[in-house]
Parts: sequence; C-alpha cells; structure tokens
Amino acid sequence: MTAVLPRDTRGSVSTYDVEAVRADFPILSRQVGGRPLVYLDNASSSHKPRQVLDAERDFVEQHYSNVHRGVHTLSQEATDRYEAARSTVAAFLGARDAHELVFTKNATEAYNLVAYSFGNAAAGSRFAIGPGDEVCVTEMEHHSNLVPWQMLCERTGATLRWIPLTDDGRLDLTDLDALVNERTKVLAFVHVSNILGTKNPVDVLVARAREVGALTLLDGAQSAPHEVVDVQALGVDFFVLTGHKMLAPSGIGVLWGRKELLDAMPPFLGGGSMIEVVTMSGSTYAAAPERFEAGTPVISQAVALAAACDYLQAVGLDRIAAHEAQLTARVLDGIRGLDGVRVIGPDTIEMRGAAVSFAIDGVHPHDVGQSLDELGIAVRVGHHCAAPVCRRYGVPATTRASSYLYNSEAEIDALLDGVVTVQRFWGTA
Ligand code: ALA
Repeated sequence: MTAVLPRDTRGSVSTYDVEAVRADFPILSRQVGGRPLVYLDNASSSHKPRQVLDAERDFVEQHYSNVHRGVHTLSQEATDRYEAARSTVAAFLGARDAHELVFTKNATEAYNLVAYSFGNAAAGSRFAIGPGDEVCVTEMEHHSNLVPWQMLCERTGATLRWIPLTDDGRLDLTDLDALVNERTKVLAFVHVSNILGTKNPVDVLVARAREVGALTLLDGAQSAPHEVVDVQALGVDFFVLTGHKMLAPSGIGVLWGRKELLDAMPPFLGGGSMIEVVTMSGSTYAAAPERFEAGTPVISQAVALAAACDYLQAVGLDRIAAHEAQLTARVLDGIRGLDGVRVIGPDTIEMRGAAVSFAIDGVHPHDVGQSLDELGIAVRVGHHCAAPVCRRYGVPATTRASSYLYNSEAEIDALLDGVVTVQRFWGTA
C-alpha cells in the first residue's frame, strides 16, 4: 500500500499522486486499438488494484473453505476472514455493529431483499404494506431501486409515488410534503445518480421521512466508492453499495440496516445458514445478518471487498473526492466550451458526483461510444438502467463519462479532444 499513501503529511490535495495510484492497477497499462486505454466507465464498473487482487488470491490459495459450517482449520480460517471482512466494511460505513451488515451478491439483490422482506411481513406487523400504504422513490432511480418497489406495490396493492426532476437534473422538492406523507411506509432514493451525477440532499429527505414515520433506504452504489460515507450521520435506515464499483470484484454487494430493523424483518430467501431450528413442519430464523445470508455466501469476494475498503482508506476518500471534483470540473468546463454538446444533469460541480452524461447534437450516443472506443476511450452509452430519466429529458440515451481515483487530467483532455473528433467525423462540428 505504500505506493499510494499520502507523501505530504499535511494531506494537501495538490499532492495527490495519480501516477502512483495508477501504478497499482495493472489493466491501466494496456492499450485499446493501439492507443493507451482511457477508462471512463467507472460508474458502471471499476478496476482492481494489485492489493485487492493479491488479497483475494491469497485467501483462495491459502485459506479457502466454506464458512460457518466446519470445525476443520480451513473452515475456521475462512470464517474468521469472512467475518473480519464484515467488520472492515462495517467500519468503512461508520456502522455501529458489524451485525448490521449483510453481504449480498450485488446492490440489486439488496434492494430486492428489503422489498421482498417487507412484502413477506404479516398483516398488521411493523413492516406490512398493503392497500392505502405508499412507497416513494425518485424519478432518477436506477432500475434496481425502482423495479423492486414497483413489484412490491403490484403484489400488495400499495401505491408508488415519485419525486420528479427539475430541468437542470435536480430533485424537484416542491411537493415533498405531499409525496412523503402519513401513508408513506418507505422512502427509497439514490445518494448520487448514476446517470445525472446529481448528489441528493439526504438530510432534507430523511427529515421529512422521519416526520411521517417512513423508513428510508439510500442507494449508495455511486457514493460509497467516492466519498466518506457515515451511515449514522446520514440518518438513514438502510444503505446499499456494490463491490464492483469500488475496486472489488463483481458478485458482492452490501445491505447495511439498523440492527433492530434487520432482526425484526422477515427473511427474503430461505435455506441453509439462515435458520435457528428446522423441523418438518416449520422453521425459526437466525438473527441478522445470517437471517439474510441463505446458502453459501460470497466468500472470497467479501474478503476482496474488505481489501478494497482498506485501499480506498489508505489513499484517503477525502483526497479521492477532491481529485474527482477537479476532474469533473474539467469535464464540465470542457463541454461548456463545445458547440453542439450539452450536459444532461447538473452542469456545475456543486452537489455532484463524477458521472457526467452528455448529448452531442446530430450523433447517436451509440455512434459516439463506438467512435470514442476507436480512440481507446471507454465510456458508457445507453439509458444506464435509468430509462425514465432519458424519457424526462427527451433523449433516447446519453453518453456518460465517469472518472475515478486513477483518472488523470490528461485523460479528461483526451475525452474532450475525442468528442471534437467525433463531431468532425459526423460533420456536426
Ligand atoms: N449501474 C451501472 C451503471 O450505471 C451498471 O452503469
């Protein structure tokens, strides 16, 4: 880890050594189409440093076995490391207790876990949802924090409401008090939008939810990789992240929830490890987090996620956030200077993450993505699993550039030059 530790003990952002960070990521030295790879698709999935790859390899090569099931040495070592990973990730999120942290296979499973659990609640119980109840989301949700709630409402007869968007890509909170009201059971919303880059005012939304007694779920898939997250300070009831966007492998996600809630919620999936007593006529269930980890869990991926948390903290999440803010400002300034290119989402750096969606007049985003790829530049094009957002802004899709801790200013300039090349190629410059 020494390569990435701050060299200046004052921790000045200006000392952020992006080349030292880049040296930890083997894939960044490869070429695409004969050009250096410029990887700006981090909101979709990030790359892994050697430290994370080594941690996972060491675990698999030296300690792997199933967890919570064996008395032999390897099973105990694997269990110890799996539970140590839980503690590391819990501390990363500022959780009070590691038992508040459930490992899932991704963020999508975590939202479904909560929605299905509430749907399984007995009538009259604390989590029961039915006709007359409401669930509120926002119009900028990723499908994974929208569709499970739509499905819950379909199953239970509850009503889905959503907070709409302003023209500049923010939540329109004008009618917040009507949308989140005494009938609202859950307010589920995104911390930082994967398509617009918007960072939402968690304090305002949590305050309103508390006023009416609604539970809050915060989608942190695009915030936890990039900034310090403290679930206690945020004041939410549930928080979700996914490993593959924060230097860890795919196949690992996290649901953090207040322990008293998790322990009272009905299970989602049934099977091994989540039980207390099983008879042929029925079963009782373990406390959280085991209650929600049915079957053999994602073991080596959890160990790798903990190593990713360690890595991010060694670099310093405040330093990463400041570095990314500089890169994002450079993208926004650059786009502002280009005729025929517009940002879909907030075009200033305030309350904003690192994902920047844009549209080039006269060129379909898929053609933009393909042309940029020929220059070695990886961006994502499409509706980014947030189709209602594209509909709201009247575009079929967007081109999205999303930077991370290892991106450099030179790479942002390569993107901006690439956009001009695309415009010239398509005759729209
Ligand atoms: N949620 C990921 C993205 O925004 C896949 O690209």
